[in-house]
Amino acid sequence: MTLTAPVRTRLDAARAAARPQRVGRVVSAVGLGITVQGLDAAVGDVLEIGGPGATTSTATLAGPSVAASDAAPSAALAEVVATTPDGLRCMPLGRLTGVTAGTPARSTGRPLLVPTGTGLFGRVLDGLGRPIDGRGPLRAPDGGAVDLVPLHHETPSAMQRARIDTPLQLGVRVLDTLTTVGRGQRVGLFAGSGVGKSSLLSMIARGTDAQVSVVALVGERGREVREFLEDDLGPEGLARSVVVVSTSDEPALMRLRAAFVATRIAESFRDQGADVVLMMDSLTRVAMAQREIGLSVGEPPATRGYPPSTFSVLAELLERAGTDRVGSVTGLYTVLVDGDDHNEPVADAARSILDGHVVLDRKLAVTGHFPSIDALGSVSRVASKVTTPEQRAAATALRTVMAARRAAQDLLDVGAYQRGTNPLVDAAVDHQGAIDAFLRQGMDERADAASSWSGLARLTARLGGA
Ligand SMILES: Nc1ncnc2c1ncn2[C@@H]1O[C@H](COP(=O)(O)OP(=O)(O)OP(=O)(O)O)[C@@H](O)[C@H]1O
Ligand SMILES: [Mg+2]
Repeated sequence: MTLTAPVRTRLDAARAAARPQRVGRVVSAVGLGITVQGLDAAVGDVLEIGGPGATTSTATLAGPSVAASDAAPSAALAEVVATTPDGLRCMPLGRLTGVTAGTPARSTGRPLLVPTGTGLFGRVLDGLGRPIDGRGPLRAPDGGAVDLVPLHHETPSAMQRARIDTPLQLGVRVLDTLTTVGRGQRVGLFAGSGVGKSSLLSMIARGTDAQVSVVALVGERGREVREFLEDDLGPEGLARSVVVVSTSDEPALMRLRAAFVATRIAESFRDQGADVVLMMDSLTRVAMAQREIGLSVGEPPATRGYPPSTFSVLAELLERAGTDRVGSVTGLYTVLVDGDDHNEPVADAARSILDGHVVLDRKLAVTGHFPSIDALGSVSRVASKVTTPEQRAAATALRTVMAARRAAQDLLDVGAYQRGTNPLVDAAVDHQGAIDAFLRQGMDERADAASSWSGLARLTARLGGA
C-alpha cells in the first residue's frame, strides 16, 4: 500500500507521540560541545536540553531551577553531531546559559524542520526558521499552518539539472550586460570589507525579476539587519522575499544552519517551479562558522586554520543551488576577501565551485564609483549561453574599449599618451563620461535588462563612431 505524504507524516507523528519518551542527561558542556548520555538519537537529530515538561517518568531529574522569563522556560536546542562510547556529542543551536551537568535532554526524534511556502513572504526568520519579526507565528496564506520539510534535501543529480539558458535580470546595468547571469547560475561577489557588497545585494533584491528572493544574512552585524530590511530592501522588496538572519554573536552551528535553512527554503520554491534568487551575505562567515565547529570537534586546522570540512561544507551548500528539472535557484554569495587578498582559501574554494565571479574594487569605491564592480575582472561563465550574438558583440565592444584604457592608464596619468596612437584609447577618453554614466548606478535607480541593453547599444554605437 502506498501512502500519500500527508498521511505518512501524520502516521510518523502519531508513532513518535506514542513512543515512550526517554530522557537523557547532560554530562558535560564544554565550549561548543555538549555530551548527553542515556538517549538514543541519530546524527543530525535535534535534542531539547532542559526546558519545560520534566514531568515524564524520569521527573526526578532536576530541571532548570530558574525559568529564564515569566513564560515557561523554553528548551535550548542542540544537534547531535557524533555518537561516541561516552554518549552523544551535540552542538548547541542556541544559548546554553543555565545548563548544568544533569539537565534533562530529550530527543525530538527528527532533524531540523524548515518552514516553506508563500506564507513566508515578507517574514524574517532566525537561523532555525523561527520568525523573529514580531509578527506572530508563521501562517500559510489560507491561515493554516505552514508546511515543514526536513532540512536535508538531495542535491539535484547532474544529469537531471536543466541547462542554464535563460538570463535573469538583476536590475544592475553593468551586471545585466557585461556579466549576464543565467537562471540557476551561482555567482560570487568578491570584495574586501566595506567595498559595497551588501549594498549591491540590496540593489539586486529590489531590481531582480525573479519571482522569489531568499536573503540569508549570516554572521553579519546586528545593526545592519534592520538597515537592510527597512532602508535597502524596503516594503516592496520584502513583500516577495524571505529573510533568514543569524548575526555574528549567535552560536556557530546556528550561523551555519541559517545558510542551509535559507537554501532549503529556496529549494522548496524551486520544487514548485519558481525561479528563485538566493542571496547570501556572507559565504565567508558561513565558512568561519564551519571552521569553529570543525576545530571544536577536533579536526586538524589546515589552510589558514580552516579544517578540511570547511571546503566540503561549502561545496555541499553551493551545489544545492542551481537548476533542477523544474525551476531554478540563482545563488549570489558575497565572499569577503581578507585584506583584498583574492587568493584567500575561502575565496579560492568558492571561485572554483561557482559559475561566475563579480569582483568589487576598492579603488572604485573610494572614488565614489558605485556599484564598485570591476567589470573587466568579473566573469560570468554562462553569459555566452544566455545572450544573443548582438548582445555579446556590444558587451565585447565596451570591454575592449575599457581594457584599452586600462592598459594605457599609466601613460594617461602622466600625460604621456599621444592622441591617435590607439583609436580604442581615444574612444575611451572621448566618451569617458558616457561610459561612466552607463557603469554607475545609484542605489535607488531601477534599470530593467531591456533598457540596459538598449543603453549599451547606444553607447557602443558612439564608441564605434568616435
Ligand atoms: N550604490 C551605492 N551608492 C552609494 N554609496 C554606496 C553604494 N554602494 C555602497 N555604498 C557605500 O559604501 C559603503 C559600504 O557598503 P556596504 O556596507 O555595502 O559594504 P560591504 O562590502 O557589505 O561591507 P562589509 O564588508 O563591512 O559588510 C556604504 O555605507 C555606502 O556608503
Ligand atoms: Mg556587508
